[in-house]
Amino acid sequence: MPKRSEEMLTDVWTSLLLVWITCVPYTSMTPIISQSKSLQTGSTALLRGLVEGQRILSRAKRGWVWNQMFVLEEFSGPDPILVGRLHTDLDVGSTPIKYVLAGEGAGTIFAINEITGDIHAMKRLDREEKAEYTLTAQVTNRDTDQPLEPPSEFIIKVQDINDNPPQFVEGPYRASVPEMSQVGTSVTRVTATDADDPVYGNSAKLVYSILEGQPYFSIDPNTAIIKIALHGMDREMREEYLVVIQAKDMGGHMGGLSGTTTVTVTLTDVNDNPPKFSKSLYEFVIPEELGIGKPGGKVKANDRDIGENAKSTYNIIDGDEKDVFEITTDAQTQEGILRLKKPLNFETKKSYTLKVEAANIRFDPNSGVPFKDTATVKIAVEDSDEPPVFSKPTFVLQVDENAPINTVIGTVTARDPDVTGSLVRYFIDRHTDLERQFNINVDDGKITLAKPLDRETDMWHNITVTATEIRNHSQISRAIVAIRVLDINDNAPEFATEYEAFLCENGKPGQVRGIHHFLQLNVG
Ligand SMILES: *[C@@H]1O[C@H](CO)[C@@H](O)[C@H](O)[C@H]1NC(C)=O
Ligand SMILES: *[C@@H]1O[C@H](CO)[C@@H](O)[C@H](O)[C@H]1NC(C)=O
Repeated sequence: MPKRSEEMLTDVWTSLLLVWITCVPYTSMTPIISQSKSLQTGSTALLRGLVEGQRILSRAKRGWVWNQMFVLEEFSGPDPILVGRLHTDLDVGSTPIKYVLAGEGAGTIFAINEITGDIHAMKRLDREEKAEYTLTAQVTNRDTDQPLEPPSEFIIKVQDINDNPPQFVEGPYRASVPEMSQVGTSVTRVTATDADDPVYGNSAKLVYSILEGQPYFSIDPNTAIIKIALHGMDREMREEYLVVIQAKDMGGHMGGLSGTTTVTVTLTDVNDNPPKFSKSLYEFVIPEELGIGKPGGKVKANDRDIGENAKSTYNIIDGDEKDVFEITTDAQTQEGILRLKKPLNFETKKSYTLKVEAANIRFDPNSGVPFKDTATVKIAVEDSDEPPVFSKPTFVLQVDENAPINTVIGTVTARDPDVTGSLVRYFIDRHTDLERQFNINVDDGKITLAKPLDRETDMWHNITVTATEIRNHSQISRAIVAIRVLDINDNAPEFATEYEAFLCENGKPGQVRGIHHFLQLNVG
């Protein structure tokens, strides 16, 4: 593992310990042989000779295990490090003996002095790469190479030093929490890992702290749960926070290694803001000819919330003749669009005052009712150039079938409804009077007979009369004039003239024929 400057202290400590440890076997060589255990029967002699060179490192919690040796990882002194010494009871001087090492790393990582039984580590070891090596040792006759006892197995354990900093493998993190959450609300949890030995020492004992993000957030030093630490955090004030978390090993104490990560915390919206009209009074000028359903003006209530919480619906809640207008909500722009429900008429009503309301779709979490705001809308109707208007849509006139030319049949009237009313001129649509039966006075609308009538051919002459403004000939209107030709009874039988004269004087025109028949019956 690469060394960091912060590990220097640890290294000094390690070296001292090693020096001391390696001294132990030489100064108190008497092995504690009576408690030896063996993996293999028949190898007691050798195992009794396995000196627990580093027994000082074997903590009480591990217990004494006699077939283990320990070597500290990451040792990088100039000379090979002494791991321990093998010793056999057979080594009493009479027989020339030889210690032989086999198994994992024998001859490459671990070397044995065949005479003294000293085992040295030749290379720097990394516990996080390989934590233990299984080896066998055997005593042979140096001259004959004959084994003097069966091989016995032992383990060299690589002992941890704190050479791995905590790491947040899942970081950087993102988390979200509703705005205005209570203090103590859990936001998220982070996790750091430490490659060092979790059961030995504190090299992997982590403590979490917050480096950036106070006073808004806190972290539990042991569980690494991040919580809200400040009351009333408002998304509309600030939406995003960068929190920096540190994990430190050695239980957080000095000399421990540390790692950091970031957590980007986003506050999510709650509906805590009302809609607010950008103005309290809106004024619109709407031309009177604006069609029904056409937009006549827009209002907008702004809401500092977002998404559904910012959505409002608009309504007309008061005003004169409020059924003339309606207000709809534009889902895209969140504007209230004022539209006509009935036609406007400048000549009858020139202005309107309405009260409009914007109400949130979602409810205010505190009161349980929607947030609202109101505004006044004043509408001025704009006069527009309108065509002339006939006094009736249809005129029904009558003329005697034998009426002479130039008889006045009736009069139609039309006038310009605009304030600056224009004079009107009248015409007969000649497509509806192909025979040019009638004339009309262009100035006063008086209709006269142009040719003699013949009731036998047409009982009705339905013609179209147009009225145009003098000021603008394109401003034009039409009316139907239905002219009924009255029968003068030119084919009827002869009757007493006095009766007929009397009846005609008092009877209504429509009754004339019926009465004739009645009289006929009585007379006959
Ligand atoms: C005349 O009336 C027509 C139809 O309303 C209109 O389009 C046109 O602009 C008017 N012309 C003038 C000069 O006012
Ligand atoms: C003319 O108008 C009158 C009255 O509206 C109607 O009764 C009649 O049927 C019409 N005649 C024709 C030929 O359209």
